[in-house]
Amino acid sequence: MNASYIPGFGNHVSTEAVAGALPVGRNSPQRVPYGLYAEQLSGSAFTAPRAENRRSWLYRMRPAANHPPFKAYGGPTRLRHRPFDEVPADPNRLRWDPLPLPAEPTDFVDGLVSIAGNGGVGVHLYAINRSMEGRAFFNADGELLIVPEQGGLRIVTELGVIEIEPLHIAVIPRGVRFRVALTGTGARGYVCENYGAPFRLPDLGPIGSNGLANVRDFETPAAWFEDIDEATELVQKFEGTLWTTTLGHSPFDVVAWHGNLAPYRYDLRRFNTIGTVSFDHPDPSIFTVLTSPSEVAGTANCDFVIFPPRWMVAEDSFRPPWFHRNVMSEYMGLITGAYDAKAGGFTPGGGSLHNRMSGHGPDQASYESAVAADLKPHKIDATMAFMFESCSVLRPTRFALESPLVQLDYDDCWSGFTKAELPR
Ligand SMILES: [Fe+2]
Repeated sequence: MNASYIPGFGNHVSTEAVAGALPVGRNSPQRVPYGLYAEQLSGSAFTAPRAENRRSWLYRMRPAANHPPFKAYGGPTRLRHRPFDEVPADPNRLRWDPLPLPAEPTDFVDGLVSIAGNGGVGVHLYAINRSMEGRAFFNADGELLIVPEQGGLRIVTELGVIEIEPLHIAVIPRGVRFRVALTGTGARGYVCENYGAPFRLPDLGPIGSNGLANVRDFETPAAWFEDIDEATELVQKFEGTLWTTTLGHSPFDVVAWHGNLAPYRYDLRRFNTIGTVSFDHPDPSIFTVLTSPSEVAGTANCDFVIFPPRWMVAEDSFRPPWFHRNVMSEYMGLITGAYDAKAGGFTPGGGSLHNRMSGHGPDQASYESAVAADLKPHKIDATMAFMFESCSVLRPTRFALESPLVQLDYDDCWSGFTKAELPR
């Protein structure tokens, strides 16, 4: 892996799996070394400003154009697509139990289940028990942020191999072909499909030049290829629909590449968590790992926010997240441990959705223990919750509303608060 990749800004990476495969001094020389084909993969318009411009040059054994027509994918899919309007948007607070691992053999493509989304972002889950064998996938609709909760994944991409396990994330750019293999017997997790501006590191403002997710910890793969002339199914998601074709070879035949558009991974345990050392619970934006900006300054199409292990030291303060109603809409998931605003019901692999202006916050048990606590420094440990937060309402899918995973009693966790007693 190559360290110090800058998400969203893309410092330039050069890598070759065979010495001498990478052309020197030009992108598409008349003759590429070894007879490889030069191919540009664009992640932005050609004319995007330099700071936003993302592209890589791939040197491969066959052009990606070498494929028969795509046909409609016949397999079952629970994937949904923007604008996520199959049912009316539901303003209720929602919470789900974890998706069980499937009984039938199910790989990453067939194991994706859509929970919610809007015009800028889709929220999906995956639960799989089989590696993708003899097939590859790419998403023409957006980049994919993969958040494993259970089980390791070996993600073979055109630009190299990324291995992740729970507490890692991986980001696969729009259009990059990949296949997902299990490193154990099963895997489960969350996927944020980002139709908007690519995820990038947030600005740090007064925090300064260090902190939160540090650039040095983002890793891109080294070039890796396989020379296999066997039938390979290639599935793509295009405007919300799955399409399929069959190649006579592996699509993972990129021998060298250079550029600033690449898949990457990050270890959430390396996040430099910053919080109060005086009083009050800061806004959770302080925990932003990556952000996809909208066209409104400071307002994210999607923020990826984590709640990692950290010391709590605030004096005379209600330390858990306070009650709130936000203009932003929040999907939360839990990778491991417990979340400090919920005493039960929010389990690893589960999720919750608090949409625009819905009142939420600590449940009664968490509230009562927080106001009664003898405040000493203490560490919230062995936990990792996260949030996909969007400026647009996250519209639940029919599956999300009708699945037996929905916790029908979720509202009850806020129903027992007693009335404040004013002096008479
Ligand atoms: Fe919230």
